[in-house]
Amino acid sequence: MSLVFTKEALKKIRTQGSIIPSSSALGRRMLRPLIIRPDTVIVELGAGTGIFTKEIMGRLPAGAKLIAFENNRALAEKLRVDFHDDLASGGLILVEDDAAALGDHLRRLNIPQAHYIVSGLPIGNFSRTARQKIFDAIYAGMRDDGIYVQFQYLLASWLHARKVFRAKIIGFELRNIPPAFVYSCRKK
Ligand SMILES: C[S@@+](CC[C@H](N)C(=O)[O-])C[C@H]1O[C@@H](n2cnc3c(N)ncnc32)[C@H](O)[C@@H]1O
Repeated sequence: MSLVFTKEALKKIRTQGSIIPSSSALGRRMLRPLIIRPDTVIVELGAGTGIFTKEIMGRLPAGAKLIAFENNRALAEKLRVDFHDDLASGGLILVEDDAAALGDHLRRLNIPQAHYIVSGLPIGNFSRTARQKIFDAIYAGMRDDGIYVQFQYLLASWLHARKVFRAKIIGFELRNIPPAFVYSCRKK
């Protein structure tokens, strides 16, 4: 278990969402809808200690890209160390910034839109306004045939997501503390 994650969570539980990183089982469930090809661009929001990052990088063929957002400095620093090789090879791009700035970074990187957006953001804890801002950024940053996957312990944010996307619950992972729902969203 990551001590950095727990230490940061105790300081900022609202934005961190949990004091325990997610499980690999949850990561694998999150990635079930993804078909990854050499031209695929995946965005990860709220990479934390990199549990999902590791699962994604393990499936990423040459040419495909993962752009991982993490706005906590200590966690971003740990990701830089742990994923040094993936960052050096160019398969992984780490963005230490707010996920709401997704559009700015895609423009900077000359990437029109992502195929998939995988989010570990604790959006259920965000204010409705902040959550809408993230949903708007995801909607604009995702291709028309793209898929956004989110996990949550409760489903209040899914009700909100349904107003913006075609959102459906695609699983419930018991092998996670706490167990978590996974929902996927497509553009309307
Ligand atoms: C519940 S943790 C998930 C971490 C990891 N993906 C996992 O599943 O264990 C949420 C992560 O999102 C990050 N985060 C929260 N709000 C964010 C924001 N607005 N932009 C980028 N990252 C954010 C937190 O710092 C934290 O690392």
